[in-house]
Amino acid sequence: QKDGFRFFMEKEIYEQSDVVSDCMIGRLKDKEINFDEIDSSILEGIKEIKICACGTSFHAAITSSYLFERLSKIKCNVEVASEFRYKDPLLTKDTLFVVISQSGETADTLEALKMAKKAGLKSLVICNVNNSSMTRLADYTILTRAGIEKGVASTKAFSTQTVVLWMLSLYFAKIKGSIDEQTLQKELKALREVPKTLIVESKLHEKCRRLSKRYLHGHGFFFIGRDVFYPLALEGALKLKEISYLHAEGYPAGEMKHGPIALADPELFTIALMPENMLYDKIKSNVEELSARDSTICTISPLDFELSDDFIKTQKLEHYMLEFFEMLVVLQLLSMEISIRLGNDVDMPRNLAKSVTVE
Ligand code: M6R
Repeated sequence: QKDGFRFFMEKEIYEQSDVVSDCMIGRLKDKEINFDEIDSSILEGIKEIKICACGTSFHAAITSSYLFERLSKIKCNVEVASEFRYKDPLLTKDTLFVVISQSGETADTLEALKMAKKAGLKSLVICNVNNSSMTRLADYTILTRAGIEKGVASTKAFSTQTVVLWMLSLYFAKIKGSIDEQTLQKELKALREVPKTLIVESKLHEKCRRLSKRYLHGHGFFFIGRDVFYPLALEGALKLKEISYLHAEGYPAGEMKHGPIALADPELFTIALMPENMLYDKIKSNVEELSARDSTICTISPLDFELSDDFIKTQKLEHYMLEFFEMLVVLQLLSMEISIRLGNDVDMPRNLAKSVTVE
């Protein structure tokens, strides 16, 4: 049932536009956001949000921490579930405990949720599988409606999680009165554009396919970005690692000069996320520093950048989150095409399972 696609991962990349539309039905209204699964009482007595997750879901969590603080004005911190479990975390009842999981069965995330429940915290799970262990346990559930995801490398699970979290940050902002009407309407307008942004243009796919042949060797990859493009860089690096078995790291672009730039040479590939609407000048100067040290640079941006060795041009979009989703597709396609050229099994990468139900 690959419907003519070579791999489930490819099919799932192409499905993102539709599943994200599904995930907005009944939630993204004309002038507001609504979740039938929750109501404003969810924030009663809450001063802080804590999120635990693993892998790709952890990257969605980090992305959302920028949105919860920026839009909802609620303090938010994120932890990898396997670290959270054994650190004797301080849990206070003014914290909304959120777990994010495609499967709802990941052992470490499930255990984190159990700990929060035991400590008496209100809990919410963002999940793709109804009636999973996590949805049975949490006080509130928001389903991501991505449909079954078969590829081990998560794609549509991430895009739907991120859209749900963006909508949730606006819903919370509205409850708390921390957003003005004009900004809210601007955000809603952008949200409505997400499905269109996720449509895979054949020209863009072909560009990634052609470029992939230049990135099959080398010392390794740095994916760099700032703000929400930092967790997106982490996600791009994870995708590449999982299915191509090449070494890749996601890094906050501004941190490169604090160590990693020492690695720069022509065999070090930098994949730079350079959105027009988020800190463009800052990331530009970070990339210039890497270029001056001869790193091979592939930029993903709507704006031409003369120092890049390779350039993937994205559309000009009005909101940084729209640029985020378009760049996500580029990163997914690029890693898949590299993996295909290397002759790997894209859907069933070695050493990995779809759901990690053991510690
Ligand atoms: O089902 P979950 O979202 O809890 O799974 C978490 C990770 O195991 C998962 O995201 C993993 O990192 C994927 N293979 C990433 O593509």
